[in-house]
Amino acid sequence: MDLSAFPRVPLGTWPTPLEDAPRLSEALGGPPVLIKRDDVNGLGAGGNKLRKLEFLLGEALEQGKDTVITFGALQTNHGRQTAAACAKLGLRCELILTAKVPQEGEAYEQSGNVVLDHFFGANVHITRTPEEAGKIYDEIDHDQAVTLPVGGSNGLGTLGYVAAAIELVGQLNERGIGEATIYVAQGSGATAAGLALGTALLGWPGRIHAASVSHPQEDTVKELHDLATEAAKLLNVDLPELNVDFGDDTIGPGYGVPTEEMWAALKLFARTEGVLLDPVYSGKAAAALAKRAKNEDLPIVFVHTGGLPGLYGYAPEAITSART
Ligand SMILES: Cc1ncc(COP(=O)(O)O)c(C=O)c1O
Repeated sequence: MDLSAFPRVPLGTWPTPLEDAPRLSEALGGPPVLIKRDDVNGLGAGGNKLRKLEFLLGEALEQGKDTVITFGALQTNHGRQTAAACAKLGLRCELILTAKVPQEGEAYEQSGNVVLDHFFGANVHITRTPEEAGKIYDEIDHDQAVTLPVGGSNGLGTLGYVAAAIELVGQLNERGIGEATIYVAQGSGATAAGLALGTALLGWPGRIHAASVSHPQEDTVKELHDLATEAAKLLNVDLPELNVDFGDDTIGPGYGVPTEEMWAALKLFARTEGVLLDPVYSGKAAAALAKRAKNEDLPIVFVHTGGLPGLYGYAPEAITSART
């Protein structure tokens, strides 16, 4: 697979660290756990979207675009990282955010990622319904604009996590770890899809566990396969067999809605390794890992996809949970 054929703009700091988590492993009572720190990749408070944006914005720049339009929930990490990347590249950024999480209050609406979006100079449009979002989208000047999908998840964005798979397998090989189970959050899908496609194309014998944070399992299976198929087409290769299993048992009542097991996972990672997760994505993926670790026999790699600013959006509940 040749990723060098795609225009790519450098945004993050690579490779991200792959760290041992011995106190976490001991607390979970399963095999050794390692954490792939895609939360500390530099730009704009970091996170998984930078890998996708390197390809998405690489193409936009090559096409001479000067404006980026994208979408998300009020506390979108994708929007915040897109805004930071646009600031770095001198592009105009239009964020159309929809209040689709049943969470309100000053912290959720005025803290966390939303604050950072403004710091990065994005034009932030807050909407209540998809119709309103569509109307705002139509009103924005599209002349030299590129529209990025929710979460940066399309075939091109998926290539960012194909690159991550190559990086991660190289790091595991250096440590003499030939096989592992990779736990990762699945939202819009390109992160898990890229890891699944990249590892399969490398012929790596390990497995991906995609922990859904929003959709039921049957939807996430389709989403992942569609994205991997699109990315394989871009790479001009046949879609290999993907070694992925899926879980949707830690979503709780819905996307962005906190659960007890999520707060427990946040405290566990923080108190054993000093690693901070977020309540919407990495926290629910970590809860899936915590439930299953005892039954895993291979080493576990937790791909930390970032999202920490979102924690501040949950301020009143977070302090109550953190204190106990
Ligand atoms: C912190 C964080 N982790 C994980 C994800 C999920 O990644 P994907 O949308 O590629 O499935 C997101 C997506 O928004 C995210 O912000």
